[in-house]
Amino acid sequence: MTLQVYYEDSYREEKARSPHDLLQEEISLSKVLTNFVIEQKNRFLPDVDWNGLSVLELGSGRGGAGLHLARLGAKVTLVDFSPTALAQAERLYSLEGFEVETVVGDVTHPDVALGKKFDVIVDSHLLHCLTEDPDRSSFYGLVSDHLYPHGIFVSETMVHRKKLFIPDGFMFDERNVLWQMFGKWTPVRRILDSLDLEAEIGNTELKIVSFFYYAQYGFVPHRRFMEIPGEVLPASVRMVLKKNDFTQEHS
Ligand SMILES: C[S@@+](CC[C@H](N)C(=O)[O-])C[C@H]1O[C@@H](n2cnc3c(N)ncnc32)[C@H](O)[C@@H]1O
Repeated sequence: MTLQVYYEDSYREEKARSPHDLLQEEISLSKVLTNFVIEQKNRFLPDVDWNGLSVLELGSGRGGAGLHLARLGAKVTLVDFSPTALAQAERLYSLEGFEVETVVGDVTHPDVALGKKFDVIVDSHLLHCLTEDPDRSSFYGLVSDHLYPHGIFVSETMVHRKKLFIPDGFMFDERNVLWQMFGKWTPVRRILDSLDLEAEIGNTELKIVSFFYYAQYGFVPHRRFMEIPGEVLPASVRMVLKKNDFTQEHS
């Protein structure tokens, strides 16, 4: 099974749930990260009005972060490779009376083009799902191609700490890739050291304008890690990137 099939199946399993329940869950699970996105928008784009602010949420699932931002007036576009997640997102946004644009696409495909640019691009837990090197650089390229020169990319992602507990059914390799056994070993997460993440971004058309490392935070890569103590789970980075100055001159 591929990661795409895994996600599509997981969203399909929730088809029978009441949309009102899903809406409440989505709103509550995405609240904390959205508060960080709001803070960063107010910090880096204080003069851009919330009303009409263009927001792109990548690997959105049901688009919980975008939903909070739509409540503030933002115009939201969601991209995910799960058509079921996006169909569920459309239902949740319509319950709140919001229009949302949804695009089924793989963010690692170099040819994904949305035909417009955004003030804010949000990554809520997508980057660590991209396990391969050319895929990750295509992803950074997609972000850079779709940001306005003043725009910000706001991300929360899991990072490695020295001790990680790896339960049965998973393995962790020397490239910091976490594999899961779905009938065959499948790469599911790339859990880079935070310094390697910074170095990786240094090779893209983006630059770091803010980078917080949360050592105390135990990031659960999968529900099978739920009972594991936080200090042997991955830590978290929250960061803000902008297009670097060279890219801006040419965009
Ligand atoms: C860990 S979930 C996060 C979902 C949501 N953003 C959240 O925070 O609840 C990762 C999401 O990214 C999507 N995804 C993973 N790899 C992707 C890819 N290469 N292209 C597009 N979507 C992808 C999955 O379908 C899933 O919805």
